[in-house]
Amino acid sequence: MRVTFLLFFFLIGLSPVFPLQSDSKDACISCHITVDEDLDEGEKIMTHFYEDVHFEKGLSCADCHGGDPTAFDDEDAAMTDSDSFLGEITRDMEPEVCGKCHSDPSFMRQYTAHVKTDQVEQYWTSMHGMKLKEGNDKVAVCTDCHGLHGIRAVSDTRSPVSDFNVPGTCSRCHSDANYMAEFKIPTDQYKKYKTSVHGTALLERRDSAAPACNDCHGNHGAQPPNIAHISDICGTCHVNNMNLFQESHIAEIFSKRQLGQCAGCHNYHDIVKPTDEFISWSDKSICRQCHENNEKAKELATSLYNIINNLKVQNSVAIDKVDNAEQKGMEVSDLQYELEDIHQALIQTRTAIHSFNPEYVQKVAEKGFKAANIAITGADDAIRELLFRRKGLFVASLIISFLVVVVYLQIKSYDDKG
Ligand code: HEC
Ligand code: HEC
Ligand code: HEC
Ligand code: HEC
Ligand code: HEC
Ligand code: HEC
Ligand code: HEC
Ligand code: HEC
Ligand code: HEC
Repeated sequence: MRVTFLLFFFLIGLSPVFPLQSDSKDACISCHITVDEDLDEGEKIMTHFYEDVHFEKGLSCADCHGGDPTAFDDEDAAMTDSDSFLGEITRDMEPEVCGKCHSDPSFMRQYTAHVKTDQVEQYWTSMHGMKLKEGNDKVAVCTDCHGLHGIRAVSDTRSPVSDFNVPGTCSRCHSDANYMAEFKIPTDQYKKYKTSVHGTALLERRDSAAPACNDCHGNHGAQPPNIAHISDICGTCHVNNMNLFQESHIAEIFSKRQLGQCAGCHNYHDIVKPTDEFISWSDKSICRQCHENNEKAKELATSLYNIINNLKVQNSVAIDKVDNAEQKGMEVSDLQYELEDIHQALIQTRTAIHSFNPEYVQKVAEKGFKAANIAITGADDAIRELLFRRKGLFVASLIISFLVVVVYLQIKSYDDKG
């Protein structure tokens, strides 16, 4: 009885311990809870404040807004009469307000050993920062991307800048044609991205290796897209494609003519899954987007396509033959390894295309042709062995039948005699 009684008080004391403690030592919070209650519309400040990363670290209202958090029940003393109170924080003040701590390495290191303190500096180099400095406050400021009075760690999946949420956060402005009207830039980035190879991988298959907007544009440096510079980004993930392409003669032409690098052929927001037809001279050729009548381009595309296509033909012949042998009950596990090698060679050859050098591409494909050869001869041998065995079986059964007949006739002749 006594124990439950004590436990009851213990639990009562425990449950509101976090808010109560802070409410009672923080005049801003204790009064603003009531301000919130009287608020009919609009976002109430305290709704998510107890989940704010700053509150969790022991920081509070006055650390951002200034004012005197010890002046209980005295609005004027807490706010307007205090020299440090900032009053209304306008959008253009945010980088400075947030930067007070986030640009101060020695302050930030008290909380975390490894913490970046370059956000504000980076921000000023972005198109957002540059336009804000010119006096346009429709660009993204800190709280547009991170939220307000409920700012979460970026690793928290509920943060507006966590991997899967970034595209939605950027598109709030960038897909809003009315909001963006004065800026005269397209507002189709999200629409295109959503159905691209990257967008479907990130948003539908939840593959966090695929880039969100910030992986190409930077978190705070949101680059003014300068094709030559921003498309270097593709190479941070597609390393082999980039290395091969940069060595190629096409790269030189693309760079001279400022056609971008990867984006010149693949675009950037609406990248589709490439097919082998891209390198053919068919309707689906990407080369023909720029070259309708260039014989050299046609010749190069065709020779690259032929290598890939030949390897694909060999691949399907090999698969058919190995399947056939397997269905007839032959042991083909060694040959399955060869099929896997052809498959790998096909993948590597598609990447090797980016050298735009037929000799090199042929060399990479060679591993596949060799494996195909082994698989095809192996499967043929297995079938031949099977036929041989069947022939042997036929002969053996013929001999046995013959012997049976002979024995039968012998027995019969004894019977007849007997
Ligand atoms: C005794 C109650 C009380 C206390 C204590 C108090 N506030 Fe306020 N605060 C208010 C009320 C009421 C308003 C709304 C005033 C209005 O709309 O004119 C307000 C408005 C604000 C605003 C908006 C200012 C603006 O100009 O738009 C900020 C920011 C603010 N408070 C922060 C703080 C901070 C930080 C503290 C602690 C240092 C604090 N308040 C302490 C009652 C209080
Ligand atoms: C991490 C910094 C930070 C903390 C902590 C913080 N605020 Fe704010 N607050 C801001 C910024 C920035 C704005 C201006 C947002 C904008 O652009 O409208 C703001 C706006 C406000 C406003 C103006 C109304 C509005 O919603 O725009 C009030 C009132 C306010 N804060 C009160 C508080 C109170 C009370 C607390 C503590 C419970 C608090 N703030 C904690 C950064 C902070
Ligand atoms: C255009 C959107 C955007 C704006 C504006 C923005 N941020 Fe960020 N912020 C991000 C993204 C995206 C990340 C990284 C998320 C990740 O690491 O996956 C980030 C990360 C952070 C981090 C975690 C440490 C780091 O650098 O990775 C801090 C702190 C931060 N931002 C503060 C700020 C401050 C302060 C401002 C205002 C000067 C600001 N941010 C403006 C999008 C933005
Ligand atoms: C009084 C100092 C201070 C101010 C002002 C401040 N912050 Fe912070 N902020 C911190 C501290 C301390 C942390 C916790 C750092 C940690 O543990 O990684 C933090 C964490 C963050 C994080 C999470 C970082 C991560 O690693 O995931 C973001 C995002 C952030 N702040 C954004 C803002 C924004 C936006 C503003 C302005 C509206 C702001 N901060 C103002 C001190 C401050
Ligand atoms: C609050 C609205 C808003 C949000 C949120 C926002 N932006 Fe912006 N952004 C703008 C405005 C306005 C411009 C200025 C347009 C211009 O360049 O003239 C801009 C410019 C840009 C530019 C430069 C475009 C150019 O070529 O001029 C890039 C890149 C960009 N934003 C990327 C992003 C990314 C990535 C995110 C999300 C992480 C994001 N933005 C979030 C409003 C926003
Ligand atoms: C795979 C990399 C990549 C991803 C992911 C990406 N972008 Fe871009 N983005 C680019 C490139 C490259 C350009 C530069 C085009 C130029 O300079 O002409 C660009 C240009 C832009 C521009 C300038 C206007 C325009 O459309 O050309 C804006 C705004 C923009 N991106 C926003 C976004 C937003 C918002 C997202 C997420 C929904 C996003 N980007 C995702 C690579 C990317
Ligand atoms: C942050 C890493 C990253 C960046 C940056 C990046 N990609 Fe990707 N990309 C991926 C991943 C991961 C996939 C695989 C998605 C999937 O599972 O389908 C992919 C898929 C692709 C594919 C389809 C490949 C296939 O066989 O289906 C193409 C083409 C592509 N990216 C081109 C680009 C281009 C062009 C750029 C630059 C404008 C770029 N990528 C930037 C990570 C990245
Ligand atoms: C001159 C045109 C052209 C340029 C420039 C180009 N590609 Fe490709 N890319 C192609 C063609 C054609 C294919 C299809 C090959 C196939 O499937 O047979 C392809 C296929 C791909 C694939 C899928 C095959 C694989 O390697 O996994 C990726 C990923 C890719 N490209 C990335 C890039 C990147 C990254 C860059 C920039 C470094 C780039 N591409 C530059 C034409 C180009
Ligand atoms: C974005 C446009 C663009 C795309 C896509 C493109 N090229 Fe080109 N390419 C050019 C330009 C521009 C030149 C310079 C010569 C010219 O004006 O025709 C060139 C030159 C060439 C040359 C040298 C031709 C000569 O006359 O010396 C070859 C070969 C070539 N490209 C092959 C290809 C192949 C193969 C593809 C597809 C995989 C391709 N290109 C895709 C724009 C493009």
